[in-house]
Parts: sequence; C-alpha cells; structure tokens
Amino acid sequence: MNPPIPTALPQLTPTTARGGALRVLEQSVEGLLPLPGLTAEQYARGHALFEARSDQRGLMTAWLCALLAARPEGPTRVLSIGCGDGSVDVEVARTLARTGQPVDYAGIEPNAAVADRCLTRLSAVAGVRAVVDQRALADSPLVEGRYDVVLAVHSLYYVPDLADALRTARRALAPGGVLVVLHAPRQQLNQLVDVLAPDQHQPFSAAVARALSDAGDPVLRLRLEATLDLTPSDEHLDTAVLDFAVQVRLPVFLRGLVLNVLAEAALPSPGLRVPHPVDAFVVSGPVADSETRKLVQRVQRGAPSSARRGDHDMAIDTEQRPPCRCRQRPSPWLPLHRTAG
Ligand SMILES: C[S@@+](CC[C@H](N)C(=O)[O-])C[C@H]1O[C@@H](n2cnc3c(N)ncnc32)[C@H](O)[C@@H]1O
Repeated sequence: MNPPIPTALPQLTPTTARGGALRVLEQSVEGLLPLPGLTAEQYARGHALFEARSDQRGLMTAWLCALLAARPEGPTRVLSIGCGDGSVDVEVARTLARTGQPVDYAGIEPNAAVADRCLTRLSAVAGVRAVVDQRALADSPLVEGRYDVVLAVHSLYYVPDLADALRTARRALAPGGVLVVLHAPRQQLNQLVDVLAPDQHQPFSAAVARALSDAGDPVLRLRLEATLDLTPSDEHLDTAVLDFAVQVRLPVFLRGLVLNVLAEAALPSPGLRVPHPVDAFVVSGPVADSETRKLVQRVQRGAPSSARRGDHDMAIDTEQRPPCRCRQRPSPWLPLHRTAG
C-alpha cells in the first residue's frame, strides 16, 4: 500500500553541516516507509537511462581489460560470476582473445534471459569458447583450481553468504590466477537507497574487504572514481533516473530533499555531477602475491598521468565514513588500500 502523502511540504532546514541533508531526508521519511517500488518496466527504463549518464561501466571495463591484458601470456580460462548480459565480459573476452591464445569463458548467471544473451555475445567473439551456467553460484558445480581469472562484477550483493561466495571464487583459481571483484562502496547514492528503501539493504564494499581480510587473503584494493551526471535535462527522464538511483518511486515532495543530499556530494560545476565510485579488489591465486602486485602496478602506471599518485596505502572503511563534499576529484584510478599477505 502506498504511504499517505503529507499535505504540507517538510521544512527545508538549512544544511550547513556535512551530511545534514541526509539527516533531514531521514527525518522526513519517518513513518512513510516503505515507499512504492519500481515496476519491472520502470526499473529497466531507469537502468538504461542511469547507465547512459554514468561513466562507471566504461571505466570498469577499460580498467579490467588493461589489468588482464597485462597478464603474462598463457592459456586463459575465465569464470565470471553473475555475468548478466555480458556487457563487460564480452569486452574482456575480446581483449584476451587478441593475444591469440585460446580463451575458455565460463559465466554463471541464474537469470535465464540475460544468461542466453551473454552466451550469444561471448560465442560471437572469435577465439572464445563460451558456456554460461544458468544456476546461482552456490548451486554451480565449480571445478576447483581451474580458472586463470575469476571475475565478480557488481554481482556479490545478491549471494546469500558473501564470505562463502568469496571462498568459492578463490578456490576456483588456478595457480597464478587472479580474482577480481568490483563492488560499490556505501557512498552518497547507496546511502540514499539505505534511507529510502531500507528493505533492499545489500553488503557494500567494506563487507567484501572484511570477508577477504578475515580469510587472510592478500588483497590489492583500488577505487575507480566514476561520475554520474544528474544535471537536469528533461523532467520525465530526470524522474526516471532519480527513481532508479534511489530504487523507489519518489513522491514529488521528497525529490528536492534527495537533490539536496546529492548537491552536498556534488563535484565542482558544471551541472550536478556526483561521485559514482566502484571499489576493485584483486586477490591472487595460490602463488606468490608479488606477481599480482606487479601486475596492478603496471596497470596503474599505464593510467592517465593525473592518476599517478604513487602506491601509498590509504586504509579506509567506506561504510563508516560520513558523506564527503568531494570538491576535488583526483583521478579515476586512485589506489585505495593495500594489505600484504
Ligand atoms: C548487477 S548485475 C551485474 C551483471 C554483470 N556482471 C554486469 O556488470 O553487467 C548482477 C547479476 O548477478 C546475478 N546474480 C544474482 N544472484 C546470483 C547468484 N546467487 N549467483 C550468481 N549470480 C547471481 C543477477 O542475476 C545479475 O545478472
């Protein structure tokens, strides 16, 4: 049932303190939850519009391809967990196939429709032999020690047991293999989802970091600083994008409050551009971690010159941090944190 719409607009409290707009929003939705969710059609439309306004997918794909292309040549067996329709995997497969080595590409994707699409796309890449298992990770009979590369791109939010999924992914690695997890931190956009759609709570990247650290795996951690452009253009499209961003159908009276939160996080003008980061975790297989570290360093050196900020450690726990104003955007290739094994 839809929550009752208040007749009076909530007071727009001046928000000078960092994160103040989020608190105002939290107070304003008290007693109004749950807000109406998106229909499948609204979700699909909003998703397409949202992706078109973010450079995250392109950045992730470029970084992943650069990382994997820098690997030593050899047989390439790849496993992609939650491969979806393969929009990232097909580029990775193309990159690996360019080495001239045979590429065996296995996807795991429980959604049959997108799994079929992924298989069709991967099978069309010359030099790639593709299979997609239409089961969830926990039900898939994985061969341990088989894969040179295991990927989980924005897919580990949905597994029932994150630590168990990471252990399974790690066990699937062949000697010298590498596990790469791309996962969102709990930053401004996801904090909004937590406030407006708390029933959709998902583990963010700090949970991945914790699980990997608990398992004692040597991990290299980086942040890809992507941006989402929410500059107003067409009212209907703006509404669809904002609703997708917060995963509910926002009542009109809440839109301004949500935009206040985003404005606090906005990057320097022009327009309303907000950080849309993704954290990358690189875990090496059962062989010395130094090879993986060298690999990541090589890719970092190949990143745009503005990104070469050294290899310093920056330990953070993004889930504990208050939202930042992010007035400066150092580079999309910012090294975040590194733990040696
Ligand atoms: C956000 S999509 C990401 C898809 C793709 N990796 C990409 O980045 O385009 C997450 C995918 O994980 C899949 N998924 C959900 N639960 C899963 C599970 N238990 N095991 C494997 N995949 C799962 C979903 O069906 C969905 O296609």
